[in-house]
Amino acid sequence: MKTILSGIQPSGSLTLGNYIGALQHFVRLQHEANCHFCIVDHHAITVPKTIENLKHNIRSLAALYLAVGINPDKATLFVQSDVSAHTELGWIMITHSYMGELERMTQFKDKSKANTSIPAGLLTYPPLMAADILLYQTTHVPVGDDQKQHLELTRDLAERMNAKYGEIFVIPEPMIAEFGSRIMSLDDPTTKMSKSNPNEGSFISILDEPKVIEKKIKRAVTDSDNEIRFDAENKPAISNLLTIYAAMTDQSMAEVEKHFSGKGYGALKGELAEAVIERMSPIQEKYHYYLQSTELDSILKHGAVKASITANETLAKVKKAIGLGI
Ligand code: TYM
Repeated sequence: MKTILSGIQPSGSLTLGNYIGALQHFVRLQHEANCHFCIVDHHAITVPKTIENLKHNIRSLAALYLAVGINPDKATLFVQSDVSAHTELGWIMITHSYMGELERMTQFKDKSKANTSIPAGLLTYPPLMAADILLYQTTHVPVGDDQKQHLELTRDLAERMNAKYGEIFVIPEPMIAEFGSRIMSLDDPTTKMSKSNPNEGSFISILDEPKVIEKKIKRAVTDSDNEIRFDAENKPAISNLLTIYAAMTDQSMAEVEKHFSGKGYGALKGELAEAVIERMSPIQEKYHYYLQSTELDSILKHGAVKASITANETLAKVKKAIGLGI
C-alpha cells in the first residue's frame, strides 16, 4: 500500500489551481493509500502574517479539506505545528543542506525578489518540507508542478542521509498529474494561477460566489483564433480553460475537445462557468458547516495524535542514527 503525505499552506483562500492540482487528487487517493494531509502553518509563517489571519486560515483550510471530501476516518488530517517532530526533523534536514542548493530553488528566488530584507525562513523552507514528507516514510507525494523542484531536493537530502547513516528514510516519488498540475492565471496564461496574485481577476477562489466566478471567467483572456482545441504551446489560454473544464466535469481532454468541437469561445466560457459553479457550490456549503463546527477541532486533535505516533518513531530513529540525545 502506498503511503502518502501532502501539505497546503494556510495562507488565504485557495484557488482552483490548488483544487485541481492537489485537493481533488487527495480525495481520490484516500481510498487507495495510507494518506496524511497537513496544514503547513510553519511554512505559512515564512512570510509575515497577522495572528488573526493565521488562526482563521488554519481553521479555514481544515474546513476546506473536509468540505472537498477528505474523510478523517480514512486519512490523517492535522496541523503541522501540532506535531513538533516536523520542526525538529526540519532542523536536522537544514543542517544537511547546502546553501547553494537552497539558493537555487526557483520559489526562493521568486519570493525573495519581492523583499529587500529576505526572511531566512524562505531559504530554509524546502528542508522543512523534506522533513514533512520523510517523517511518515512517505512513498508518494501528490503535488502540483510548482513543487517538483522541492521534491527533487527532498529526494537528494534523503539519499544523502541514507548514504551517510544507513537506510533511515524511504525515498519518496512525486505524483504530478499530466493534466491540471499547472493551472494558469486567467489574465495571463504564461503565469501560474496563484492566490498571492494581487489581481483577483487572475484566479478563481474555491469560495468565490457564483456571480464572481461568472465574471472572472467572462473576462479571462483567450487566444487569437476562435477554434477550441488543446494546444498548450500555441493556444495557452484556451488550453488552460479546457483543462479546468475537464477537471470540473471529470472528463478526459479528448472528450472535452469533442464536446466543444465547432463551438466558439463564448460557449466554452458559459459552460465552464456553469461547471465550476456546479462543482464549487456543494463544497462551499459544506465548508461553512465545518468552519462553524466543533467537530473540526476534534478531528484536528485526533489527527495530530495519530500523526505524532509515526512522526516520533521516525524522528527517534533519525536521532539515534546520527548520534543525537542520550
Ligand atoms: P501550496 O500551499 O502553494 O499549494 C498547495 C498545493 O496546490 C498545488 N498548486 C497548484 N496546482 C496546479 N495549479 C496551480 N496553479 C497550483 N497552485 C498550487 C501545489 O503544487 C501544491 O501541491 N510547499 C507546498 C506545501 C508543502 C508540502 C509539504 C507539499 C509543505 N510541505 C509536503 C507536499 C508535501 C506549498 O507551498 O504548496
